[in-house]
Amino acid sequence: MKIRMISKLAAGVAMVAMVAGAAKAAEQVEVLHWWTSGGEAAALNVLKENLQKEGVGWKDMPVAGGAGSAAMTALRARVTAGDPPTAVQLLGFDLRDWSEMGVAANLDDLAKKEGWDKVIPPALQAFSKYDGHWIAAPVNIHSTNWLWLNKAALDKAGGKAPTNIDELFTLLDNFKSQGIIPLAHGGVPWQDGTMWESVVLSVGGPDFYKKAVLDLDPAALSGDTMKKVFDDMSKLRSYFDPNFSGREWNLSTALVIEGKAGAQEMGDWSKGEWLRAKKEPGKDFVCIRFPGTQGSVLFNADQFMMFDVGEKQKDAQMKMASAVENPGFQIAFNTVKGSVPARTDISDEKFDDCGKKGMKDLNEASAKGTLLGSLAHGYAQPAAIKEAMLDVITQHLNGQLTTDAALKRLPEAVAAAK
Ligand code: GAL
Repeated sequence: MKIRMISKLAAGVAMVAMVAGAAKAAEQVEVLHWWTSGGEAAALNVLKENLQKEGVGWKDMPVAGGAGSAAMTALRARVTAGDPPTAVQLLGFDLRDWSEMGVAANLDDLAKKEGWDKVIPPALQAFSKYDGHWIAAPVNIHSTNWLWLNKAALDKAGGKAPTNIDELFTLLDNFKSQGIIPLAHGGVPWQDGTMWESVVLSVGGPDFYKKAVLDLDPAALSGDTMKKVFDDMSKLRSYFDPNFSGREWNLSTALVIEGKAGAQEMGDWSKGEWLRAKKEPGKDFVCIRFPGTQGSVLFNADQFMMFDVGEKQKDAQMKMASAVENPGFQIAFNTVKGSVPARTDISDEKFDDCGKKGMKDLNEASAKGTLLGSLAHGYAQPAAIKEAMLDVITQHLNGQLTTDAALKRLPEAVAAAK
């Protein structure tokens, strides 16, 4: 009798253990993202490892392609098939579009418990919330108006970083005479747009950027200032190498790292590649604001939206969202990724000089109203308008449209996409 009781008990204990085990194994997040370059993957690993420590499994769904346009196609296919991933890397207006479709999980309880309202900057909250409810956990703040310079090449050119676009052209001429590729660029619409938005800000200043890119004023999109923007884009193109078309951004960064190219205009995810190659800011490379854009910040922030996939996954989703907002994670992740924290209460102590500058610029821009959403990364306009504008920008850069034709097409494309 006794023995039977003990064995019954043992079986019961085993059952409980099995059920607990199953529950544990089921606690998993499937994460759709486009962080496939060396620096990006290293940063993502920080999150994976943190979650694993908490017993949350990670099912990886990487979709290569900078800025996520391929990832968005993959997402649409999964949602159409009725099988969305649990967490998805999303930017700006895409967060709104998906929320509008009613597929987002509600993060309000967690956000309230952790006081997100007080520490996430309002410029991000405008996208992390939909209809007053938290639908996404912001990971970082990136910025697109940066120029990355090979320090040895810059030193050879006299060591002075350019402060306006004319000085930039002079420096690029010098790089040309050094026999290196002056400007490493990948001819892909989002990269063309990333460069274009920096040129718009440099040529026209923040008020013009607001008028043209945020307010879509037809006169600003087709006037003299925009003409100079397109002319400068053509000039910049003359400094690319013949193999630029279709090249991924991180391969262009590699050219600058290796000293085969002098400079790259790119968001600060580029720094992740430099760090991964064991290069140091100030010693091996120099980060400056795209010449002429000092004082303004074009921002882009990666956010994880949790899709509503039912109660079973909710716990894992909340653990992931909480891990993303953890202050220690914000430091560990962003120092690797090249971005700055998505929270305002993090010290810059652990960040390198480029990171410190990024945080300082962000605070100053935010205080004086020159913190502006990036077009190429979805923080200025909804996808349809963004794509329509990128189309004109790319066609012009590739010589398929003259500047005059681009000035005519840009407001037309915007009007048609509205
Ligand atoms: C951006 C994203 C960054 C970086 C970049 C290149 O849109 O916000 O985190 O990954 O694309 O892939």
